[in-house]
Amino acid sequence: MSKKMWDGRFTKETDKAVNDYNSSISFDYRLYKHDINGSIAHATMLAEKNIISKEDGILIVDGLRQILADIENAKITFNPNAEDIHMFVEDQLTKRIGDAGKRLHTGRSRNDQVALDIKLYLLEQIENIQVQLELLCRTILVIASKNLTTILPGYTHLQRAQPITFAHHMMAYVEMFLRDISRLNDCADRMNISPLGSGALAGTTYDLDRKSVANMLGLSGITDNSLDGVSDRDYVLEFASNLSIFMVHISRLSEEIILWSSQEFSFIELDDSFSTGSSIMPQKKNPDVAELSRGKAGRVFGSLMTLLTVMKGLPLAYNKDMQEDKEAIFDSVDTVNTCLPAFTGMLRTMTIHTERMRQAASGGFTNATDLADYLVKKGIPFRDAHEISGKLVRHCIFNNCALLDLSIDDFKYFSPIISDDIYNAISLETCVNERKIVGGPAFDTVKKAISDAYTKLDSLIKN
Ligand code: ARG
Repeated sequence: MSKKMWDGRFTKETDKAVNDYNSSISFDYRLYKHDINGSIAHATMLAEKNIISKEDGILIVDGLRQILADIENAKITFNPNAEDIHMFVEDQLTKRIGDAGKRLHTGRSRNDQVALDIKLYLLEQIENIQVQLELLCRTILVIASKNLTTILPGYTHLQRAQPITFAHHMMAYVEMFLRDISRLNDCADRMNISPLGSGALAGTTYDLDRKSVANMLGLSGITDNSLDGVSDRDYVLEFASNLSIFMVHISRLSEEIILWSSQEFSFIELDDSFSTGSSIMPQKKNPDVAELSRGKAGRVFGSLMTLLTVMKGLPLAYNKDMQEDKEAIFDSVDTVNTCLPAFTGMLRTMTIHTERMRQAASGGFTNATDLADYLVKKGIPFRDAHEISGKLVRHCIFNNCALLDLSIDDFKYFSPIISDDIYNAISLETCVNERKIVGGPAFDTVKKAISDAYTKLDSLIKN
């Protein structure tokens, strides 16, 4: 078994089972770039502060750069016997440059090192995910722009309720995804501070320039308490909950896609290239991308629960339990990163059956509220208007027709106040377009909401 960097006080070799159990390189190798960049900044500062010599500083930085290049060009592979990525990199360095390599860890601990690495990794992932989220929003905005006048029923309790437009419906999701982008910005702002200098738990006696390290790494500040610096994983929890909330949104839209693409609804049809078939039923075309997205939400929530449970009840400061944060957060990142391109592509290529949507909005008495409102505007109290409208609906159900099919005499039988203008007042277009209140579905209101969303998106992404 390989020699340990910490084996000075030990009299026996680590048991193989313990070695396997303890080792994290099989998953934390992913942090290699962030680990090396953190070390380059740390070593540069050590040399600037004369804590190590300038010559050693140069050797270390060059050595680390070469290791990074060698990993990226697949010239070296991760040694599965290395305890973790931090030990692996330091070991590689010392093998290459000798004693200077052994000076890298001056004034540092793996505890502050790993906290830094995860922050750098997650900050990078936040940017990647935001790029994908922006694409998703832009895809929906294009769909919305093309469907400003596509009327369909809005639902409550999954029962037809009031007519809205497909643009309005899809814009609800843009609002959710814009909040997701903004939540990630908030999360990044809080994450953006360097824990280096916290040491193992109690800081260090070396006169480190913590701010210059943070600066070199593009971080905006430094942590204020060494115990918190090494034991805080709020940023992992926050990021995992942001991804969970995002998956709630994806899952809800998935459910709608699945319903809408059923033959019963037939509001949309998914493109063949974003659907899958059945091994037995030749006619089948299944919305697997939406179903997987709905299902994978569970994985992301599961990781959040793992992380919360790992962290609860841990005494200060670092505990090895915290090594368990990595696989959970990596799985969430991978799930979201594979979900987004498939999901966005599915939306971009789907066909919208505007006629079917309109037909559904014409049935189900989605204009019954507008009929009541028409009566209110003619002076009838809302409660009475509600009842008259309800009776007219019942009459239509009995006669198997829609409100707009009734003759003016039928209307007058229920309320003499109703006149010929009723037909325009309760047409689907009027129902939608009279709802020009901010946040409503009127064609022009949604057009404005779309242009506002483009502005919001630009400012959130620039942020
Ligand atoms: N692999 C460890 C982790 O991921 C790094 C920190 C180890 N620190 C220690 N004191 N053993 O948490």
